[in-house]
Amino acid sequence: MTNQHYHPKILGFLCNWCCYTAADSAGVGRYQYPPNLRVIRIMCTGRLDPSFPLEALAGGADGVFVGGCHPGECHYQDGNYHALVSAALVHEMLARVGVSRERFLIDWASAAEGPNFVKIITAFTKQTEQLGPLGLAENIPAESLRLRLNQAAEAARERKIRTGLINASREMFKSGDFSRKNIAQLVQAKCEKALDEMTAQADSQ
Ligand code: FES
Repeated sequence: MTNQHYHPKILGFLCNWCCYTAADSAGVGRYQYPPNLRVIRIMCTGRLDPSFPLEALAGGADGVFVGGCHPGECHYQDGNYHALVSAALVHEMLARVGVSRERFLIDWASAAEGPNFVKIITAFTKQTEQLGPLGLAENIPAESLRLRLNQAAEAARERKIRTGLINASREMFKSGDFSRKNIAQLVQAKCEKALDEMTAQADSQ
């Protein structure tokens, strides 16, 4: 299959209060954006379970997008900061199972930012299109990657990882450093042992 004829499937988890409304207003305003996106509306990105994007990719999505309110504007105070912690785990797990991190994106657009939402989703769709179907950019058979992604999703639901994420969130709020770099480092440090176990299991396949 050439990428020229390839239409990636993108699954979007959109916050009801911002990105979902931005997508709606983009439609009403007749802004054009790729039709690849299928949407699941969530009340807040804080609802995002890290196993969801992993399961979505294992189940046939080529890319997963999470869209929420800008930092500081979450309707439930800090749900989007918790979502950044979950997203850091997803990115780390993708890297460890051999799936391109670029297949997953978390970004922000307020309800009034229809054009910004269009810009984000258009760029992400293009990026996913360039990666091709799961396994192509990774140079690993798709079936093997799906198996690994399911294992990662299972690991993400386990207590060890949950405890690591809670501790990473605590440290993030304590430090007041909400940069993605800091959050990634915290998640790696707090979940290291469980992530190493998951990687060893994936590598033994
Ligand atoms: Fe939109 Fe929390 S309400 S991210």
